[in-house]
Amino acid sequence: MRIAILSDIHGNLEALQVALQYLRENGIDQIYCLGDMVGYGANPNECLDLVAQSCSKVVMGNHDHAAIGQTSVNYFNDYAKLSTYWTLSVLSARSRNFISSLDFTWQDDKILLVHATPANPPFWHYVLTEQDAREEFEAFTQNVCFIGHSHFPVIFSKNEGLIRVQKFMLNKQDKYIVNVGSIGQPRDGNPKTCFCVYDSDTGQLEYIRLDYDAALTREKIIKAGLPLFLGDRLLNGY
Ligand SMILES: [Fe+2]
Repeated sequence: MRIAILSDIHGNLEALQVALQYLRENGIDQIYCLGDMVGYGANPNECLDLVAQSCSKVVMGNHDHAAIGQTSVNYFNDYAKLSTYWTLSVLSARSRNFISSLDFTWQDDKILLVHATPANPPFWHYVLTEQDAREEFEAFTQNVCFIGHSHFPVIFSKNEGLIRVQKFMLNKQDKYIVNVGSIGQPRDGNPKTCFCVYDSDTGQLEYIRLDYDAALTREKIIKAGLPLFLGDRLLNGY
């Protein structure tokens, strides 16, 4: 089965539409979403509607949780805080209901989905280093755990450490934490939208990077009265 895993859409409708178009044209069996559908961007309701229609599994992100008043914004930086207040003010009842229905994890015997960390999903910690990953490997039994949250595409292998490649064959005897990158706000210096396609039969994992109209997304952010920085950063991917 070919599965696409998307994360950290952050109200960026243009990037999400480009990704979904690609998935329609490339014979993907299932789409999973790792949360943070909202926050930062100008189209939270539209993104939530598309995710609800397109994704068979969806887990809760910290920005989603904050947008229904469940996670405190005290630890958010000023940009995240301001955009959360804005999102709270525009979120539809349908969007709130959809977010409220989400769990922190989804799993079967081979795959675990979580936004932040497998050990403590609602604590919203980050897996940034090999040391962080080493502690997290003890928290799950599956072959692979897909995460988002840092917006930085990277693979952690229990046996091989940190791996940064565009294509990789997962070994069924090893264990992996795969950060799928961010659809709506990439932060690895590459402004193209980012997600993963995983073939659960062969173990083949591929990062897909696609151009989208980031200038239009930036315009919408500015028009909505959100901080200019949240628009500008999309042009550079940081
Ligand atoms: Fe995020």
